[in-house]
Amino acid sequence: MKTKPLTTLPAWKALTRHSQTIKRRHLRELFAQDKRRGERFTAEGAGLFLDYSKNRISAETVRLLRQLAKETDLRNKVAAMFRGEKINVTENRAVLHVALRAPRNAVIRVDGKNVVREVHAVLNKMASFANRVRSGKWKGHTGRRIRNVINIGIGGSDLGPVMAYEALRHYSDRSLTFRFISNVDGADFVEATRDLDPAETLFIISSKTFTTLETMTNAHSARAWLLRAFRGDAKAVARHFVAVSTNAEKVAEFGIDRANMFGFWDWVGGRYSMNSAIGLSTMIAIGPAHFRALLAGAHEMDEHFRTAPLEKNLPALLGLLTVWNTNFLGAETVAVLPYENYLKRFPAYLQQLTMESNGKHVTRDGQPVNYATGPIFWGEPGTNGQHSFYQLIHQGTRLIPCDFIAFAHPLTPLGRHHDLLLANVFAQAEALAFGKTVTEVKAEGVPAALVPHKVFSGNRPSNIILADKLTPTALGKLVALYEHSVFVQGAVWNIDSFDQWGVELGKVLAQRIVPELESRSAPKLKHDSSTNHLIYRYRSMKRKR
Ligand code: F6P
Repeated sequence: MKTKPLTTLPAWKALTRHSQTIKRRHLRELFAQDKRRGERFTAEGAGLFLDYSKNRISAETVRLLRQLAKETDLRNKVAAMFRGEKINVTENRAVLHVALRAPRNAVIRVDGKNVVREVHAVLNKMASFANRVRSGKWKGHTGRRIRNVINIGIGGSDLGPVMAYEALRHYSDRSLTFRFISNVDGADFVEATRDLDPAETLFIISSKTFTTLETMTNAHSARAWLLRAFRGDAKAVARHFVAVSTNAEKVAEFGIDRANMFGFWDWVGGRYSMNSAIGLSTMIAIGPAHFRALLAGAHEMDEHFRTAPLEKNLPALLGLLTVWNTNFLGAETVAVLPYENYLKRFPAYLQQLTMESNGKHVTRDGQPVNYATGPIFWGEPGTNGQHSFYQLIHQGTRLIPCDFIAFAHPLTPLGRHHDLLLANVFAQAEALAFGKTVTEVKAEGVPAALVPHKVFSGNRPSNIILADKLTPTALGKLVALYEHSVFVQGAVWNIDSFDQWGVELGKVLAQRIVPELESRSAPKLKHDSSTNHLIYRYRSMKRKR
């Protein structure tokens, strides 16, 4: 069935008209008119609190966005995902990261088979392995216990694990060292291994496909590094390498025993895989109980998303507000600003989650879109960002909606630090919304020539997500919140948020260029003149060491 073009829907048209009214209004005015706005435009779900009152919206905006959700069939689309329907249409796959955190007794079927049972079987296998590594029962080739765990993976097989390790470092076993190698740039491998003893090092090769160039290159370098230390004794591989993959054949080809392989399934997208066996490094770091708490948190958010009415539904609100800011107020980015240092890799993780999902130019049925899709997500932890790029957010010419993330309790209390941190996050959102007028600046006795420089226009939107404490459960909720917000955006835009064809062309071209860089004799190049010239120049620079 062909869907109606998005821009022809009554709610879309009404939002377009309504945005003209909103654009003329200032948040100062909207707050002055409604004394309870700061309480009214809030929602609480699965233990997370969202204050979205500092968005450039009115009650009418929210009503129309809900209408848009209805006209784009959001509820049914959510239900279809949870039912295991093949909503990733271009790859003909179900999208079931929610099954990764479903309780043991849940039933979710793909092609008639209950996948929850398999999920828990893998979780049990992971837990048993993680416990053996953590307790020292799992020994390296020379009988020494493992002290270093290196995850080799890229994209979703790296960003989730790195982010979760950093976020939950507080809960991790500090006697173990964790490193993450992703880049095909040899520096990544060399720096990660230079001070480690191979006899105490375990490599987790994480790759859904087990064919990714970067990961396989690093995996082969890891094997060579290990075998150098053990005089080529290939038996060492079994004690120092495990794999996480959907591709058992390729894992065996690499020489990793199937017993040391942790599987997952094609219905788990790479960027949605941190709750699968891809999280093995996380589980070794924080232990199986904390890992299960992470899953429980995500599941709580899944249930909230599946059941809460739209006006109280955090992922739906966050997603719809992103649509509003992107399509009706012309914002091109979203800054994600965690005021929690442990979340320092969260923006990097979100970049793949959001942009690989919603960076699409055609609808699910292949029609070019005539509206903006996925905005650019980026960010840094506060307060560091304040002394870097916030100037542009406050006084630049672009509209940059911000998501501030903060916690009531620090994991590592230290004097006044936490109150100072939280004072900053609240102050930033306040300054962005209300700014500072010419009159206010003049009243401070500022010389006339400086007045324009010191004026803050305000009216710059932000959300604040407030939670109690960064626990494994809270992290699970936060990740699921953004996963589902991405879903909501993709559902409205009618795009396939679960494929990633855009990364293919570069991969193919690189494979073509590799032999042209490595061949001894000068290759006959057939690229454009720029690429040809760069290849010739690189070859000649390479010769002159
Ligand atoms: O960048 C493309 C991509 O396919 C991502 O979606 C994925 O997370 C990453 O590569 C790694 O893939 P794999 O886990 O198969 O090595």
